[in-house]
Amino acid sequence: MSVFVFFWYNFYMQKNEVFEAATVVDLTHDGLGVVRVDGFPIFVENALPGETLHFRVTKVGKNFGFGRVEKFLTQSDARVTTSDAALLRTGIADLVHLSVDAQLVFKQRQVAVALSKNAGLRDFPVLETLGAHEKLAYRNKAQIPVRMVAGQLETGFFRKNSHDLIPMTDFMIQAPEIDAVLEFLRAQLRLSGLTAYDERTGRGLVRHLVIRRGHHSGEIMVVFVLSADKLPREIVSALTNAFPAVKSVQINVNKARGNTIFGPIFRTVFGADFITDTLLGKTFQISAPAFYQVNTAQAEKLYKLAYKFAELKPSDIIIDAYSGIGTIGICAADKVSAVYGMEVIPEAVENARANAQLNVMDKCHYEVGKAEVILPRLLSDGIAPDVIFVDPPRKGLDENFIVAAAKMGARSVIYISCNPATFARDVKRFDEHGYRLITAQPVDLFPQTHHVEVVGKLVRKQKK
Ligand code: SAH
Ligand code: NI
Repeated sequence: MSVFVFFWYNFYMQKNEVFEAATVVDLTHDGLGVVRVDGFPIFVENALPGETLHFRVTKVGKNFGFGRVEKFLTQSDARVTTSDAALLRTGIADLVHLSVDAQLVFKQRQVAVALSKNAGLRDFPVLETLGAHEKLAYRNKAQIPVRMVAGQLETGFFRKNSHDLIPMTDFMIQAPEIDAVLEFLRAQLRLSGLTAYDERTGRGLVRHLVIRRGHHSGEIMVVFVLSADKLPREIVSALTNAFPAVKSVQINVNKARGNTIFGPIFRTVFGADFITDTLLGKTFQISAPAFYQVNTAQAEKLYKLAYKFAELKPSDIIIDAYSGIGTIGICAADKVSAVYGMEVIPEAVENARANAQLNVMDKCHYEVGKAEVILPRLLSDGIAPDVIFVDPPRKGLDENFIVAAAKMGARSVIYISCNPATFARDVKRFDEHGYRLITAQPVDLFPQTHHVEVVGKLVRKQKK
């Protein structure tokens, strides 16, 4: 029966059709309300569970469709009114219409659902999401596209699933100092008559402005991502005169078509090729291509939690896999005897080595390369860590990494993840290799967005 109905709607549901008095039954992992028409799911922006509404179909796919709210009949108690539609339409803050408390519950549930679906762990006690003190203006980094809109150079953000720029100057979730620099640069670029990049023709100069600001230090880095290396010097001097906190200005030339923001080469035109910030009291140099958590205050909570789970001892040897600029290992180094880190971005490893020297001298060893290649080598070199910290990108861990990590026989693996789905998949694989997840704690690193960060503690099932 349901198969028949499914087929029927699939065939006959029309774009632009309006359905009345639908009830929102769920929220997708990326914050869209789910309504069902005889079982066929439609994803609706700005719609929360429990709400009833009229919606218009905007797109019909094979297995699901998309819709837009026409009129609310009832609204959720968890809804907060937001005047800034662009935050939802761009996805910059795709949960901004949901109360922060409900966001925390949503994130906890994302982790629980992923663990039950992908790791077969049901009724697993996922701890309550650790919330943030700063619910707005927390981001220390912005990567802002620049485009011509109606003949004028604009900064803004792309509408979801598109490359239409919605002009914006107040990004709400990033440090206001970053917005101020952006607004200043937009005016300077307009004054100098420069053109913005056009994806269709490949013409135009300015592609992106990438701005980073040390949360504790206030130091600012600006990277002009251009289609050619020809930025007027006056713009750089106007910028550094107006904002003494700017400590690094770089040009990155990206000639490639496509979505990748940075091209291969960075050229420093003012100051150093890095800015400095502090994290958990340690000093860190951060270069333009290196990863650095965008929410410093919450990253500090996350790392402290990771250390608490690790129960570090002075004799411990630890692995800091996916080490970036070395934050996790260096902030733990005072508590342990040695740190081995690995990371694919050479500039980040260069930062990590400098950062180790700045803070803890010779306890830390870093290598450039893939963790799934380097870890098996450390294993065959006889390195026997007591705790392995992993902090991979969204795609999670490689099988070779998990096999080598399990063979090393560490007492625990502390897994920091920004993707509950791959986290759960890897938890299952670790389970098959002798490590059991005993606790998982989501931490809200990205308030107002659907993004979930989680730290898990996995322990060896059998004593060595
Ligand atoms: N632990 C750091 C960085 C975490 S982000 C911090 O907390 O700041 C994940 C890092 O993994 C990025 O720096 C990315 O460049 C790196 N990375 C991605 N794929 C990798 C791989 N296969 N092996 C090693 N590092 C990788
Ligand atoms: Ni997502």
